[in-house]
Amino acid sequence: MSNIIVLGAQWGDEGKGKVVDLFAERFDIVARYQGGHNAGHTVYIGEKKFVLKLIPSGILRPAVQAVIGNGVVVDLAALIEEMTMLEATGINVKKHLRISNRAHVIFPFHRLVEKMSEARENRIPIGTTSRGIGPCYEDKIGRRGIRVADLYDRESFRNLYDTLAEDKKTLAATFNLHDTIDYAKIRKQHLEYAEIIRPLVCDTAALLANAMKQGKRILFEGAQGTMLDVDHGTYPFVTSSSAAAGGASIGTGVPPTKIDGIIGVSKAYITRVGSGPFPTESLDGGGEMLRKEGNEFGAVTGRPRRCGWFDVPLLRYTAMVNGFDTLLITKLDVLDHLAEIPVCVGYKINGKLVKEMPATYLSMEAVKPVYKKLPGWKTSTRGTTSYKALPERARAYLKFLEDQTEVEVGGVSTGPERNETIIRAGSKLKRLVG
Ligand code: GDP
Ligand code: IMO
Ligand code: MG
Repeated sequence: MSNIIVLGAQWGDEGKGKVVDLFAERFDIVARYQGGHNAGHTVYIGEKKFVLKLIPSGILRPAVQAVIGNGVVVDLAALIEEMTMLEATGINVKKHLRISNRAHVIFPFHRLVEKMSEARENRIPIGTTSRGIGPCYEDKIGRRGIRVADLYDRESFRNLYDTLAEDKKTLAATFNLHDTIDYAKIRKQHLEYAEIIRPLVCDTAALLANAMKQGKRILFEGAQGTMLDVDHGTYPFVTSSSAAAGGASIGTGVPPTKIDGIIGVSKAYITRVGSGPFPTESLDGGGEMLRKEGNEFGAVTGRPRRCGWFDVPLLRYTAMVNGFDTLLITKLDVLDHLAEIPVCVGYKINGKLVKEMPATYLSMEAVKPVYKKLPGWKTSTRGTTSYKALPERARAYLKFLEDQTEVEVGGVSTGPERNETIIRAGSKLKRLVG
């Protein structure tokens, strides 16, 4: 097996950063295919904590090339800030990072548009990360966006930029918003940023194709999670990109026929940041406990994450749209001292079991979860590295998830660090990353 995708099976923050960092050393390239600096991927290397937002987590491995694919939206100021942060720790970012010339650029006025849309009357705010992600993708799909390559043709950039700026000014005037944005200053600044990143910019689809010809292996790093995918998630409470597996091909130019495996990362429970339906959210002591034990606060915005119980119908759905070969269950240790663990095994609406994932957020909000309570193991699993060494009840919990979701649990994470991981012998996961 060669090229694989690691992506979130829930609403994001499943621990993708840790998992990608762990497997990255077995790959030549780690590529991001969607999203932007709305992502927050945490990696611990010993005492050192890194939160990667835009740059693939693979950058932390000295022999790995990191690629920002065409499907990513790039805020150049955020990118340069992240590059500087990594370079200060001794990482040679200029050598190891490449950026697609087809990636779209986020400008400060995209944040202004986001502010307007989040504050609109009669509209429920999405609770976005306020990074300008959605408005940048709107311009991309609206065919008026500006791509990295455009920055290098001064005259054409000026025209594109001024037209786009004009649109935003009109919008701001319409909504009576008097934000003092210095459009000319931003244009000039971006020409300077463009020079800083010039040596890193290339046709990354061609780079990846050449790498594959040489037998190199690619790991695709998903951002957000499947339930935040613009098509398959809880629309409109989603992000604006294709976080699901199909996005890896679109967002990098690597054909689907070259992707050999898909690893779903899921917490042993579930969290969500921002608004939107969340059937298994626990608003009582259980949710509080998960937030405290799991340190569930947003890596980007610091917002407390909403917490709840493992949702089997949701996982079955995300397995369906992604075709997971295997699951890696993270944060098992967070459940260590619970006497009982509820798991949602079915959805009911108006007393009737529903078989398919509801399509509208209103029907999703009407869902009443059907719970089964599993016995807890009340023993520490923190740092366990072998499946056999897990308490019997923890194994029974994982076996239950495996049987219910119909996807193998190939790996388990028992702590934030690289070595606090179990890869099961004989699993598909082991074959995929071996
Ligand atoms: P990502 O966005 O999917 O990369 O996930 P985040 O980094 O936003 O959030 C996951 C958090 O859980 C981070 O703080 C990780 O360090 C932490 N983490 C990952 N795996 C484990 C685990 O198995 N146990 C515990 N206790 N923490 C973990
Ligand atoms: P990682 O990669 C969790 C959520 C926001 C909001 C919605 C839309 O760390 O898992 P956006 O700013 O993208 O337009 O916001 O999506 N969201 C995330 N939630 N983890 C993330 O990334 C997220 N990126 C966006 O909270 O509800
Ligand atoms: Mg995160």
